[in-house]
Amino acid sequence: MDWGMKNRMAQLIQPDGHCLFMPIDHGYFQGPTSKLERPWETVKPLLPYCDAVFCTRGVLRSAIDPANTKPIILRVSGGTSMVGKDLANEGITTSIKEAVRLNASAVGMSVFIGSDYEHQTLLNLGRLVDEAEEHGIPVMAVTAVGRELEKRDARYLGMCCRIAAELGARVVKTYWCENFEKVTNGCPVPVVIAGGPKTDSELEVLKFVHDGMQKGAIGVNLGRNIWQNPHPVAMAKAIRAVIHEDATAQEAHEVYKEIKSGRKPVTSGV
Ligand code: 5RP
Repeated sequence: MDWGMKNRMAQLIQPDGHCLFMPIDHGYFQGPTSKLERPWETVKPLLPYCDAVFCTRGVLRSAIDPANTKPIILRVSGGTSMVGKDLANEGITTSIKEAVRLNASAVGMSVFIGSDYEHQTLLNLGRLVDEAEEHGIPVMAVTAVGRELEKRDARYLGMCCRIAAELGARVVKTYWCENFEKVTNGCPVPVVIAGGPKTDSELEVLKFVHDGMQKGAIGVNLGRNIWQNPHPVAMAKAIRAVIHEDATAQEAHEVYKEIKSGRKPVTSGV
């Protein structure tokens, strides 16, 4: 691996081998997602607790201070919307020249395996990897399911992650599922867990993140379950405790409750 690629990967994945990526890219197909109407206000207090931010160039330029940031994973796929025909019909929206200009540490795009646009999105991934690798930029592939959330089982997600890695992704983002070790075991590159829609309880999120980490994930790319929480900083610190401090779900839940209540947490390092 060349120096530039190694350096970018090291910006994203911390010395303990783990990472907390903060996605705020949802507007690229959802528009002004709840709690993300003004992305800068949402992300600014959370920046100290994340290792990288996943966003589009539009949000990067308008909402992120170049003098006060974390490494950027640039979302470079899109071309669909919640009200359009099919969320899977994505293309590449942003060039590698633009990613270089924005000093991105990585680029990210979605593949929609099993959809009508499987072939198109997989070829998009192959082409993006060709171009990004020429510049030493890692590609994070997102195994997207569109509206079909019920697709998320180990057999399907394991297949998606493996295919994305085979096509050259350096990191794969996928959903947590039961038997998550089947997903990580078959994937030769690091796997990070996406959050999905906001859950009913904090403990539920902390449990699946902890389970995923025990079963081979290196971290998360988790947005709504942090910034749609009424106490986003408390939730970011709790997730961070699982990822970087080896906390159990229960211990991390205590961190959440202590910070939420204003008491000093016993463990919540930045
Ligand atoms: C949207 C994405 C998001 O980055 C991903 O879904 C993670 O965010 P969340 O935890 O809110 O699901 O790729 O297409």
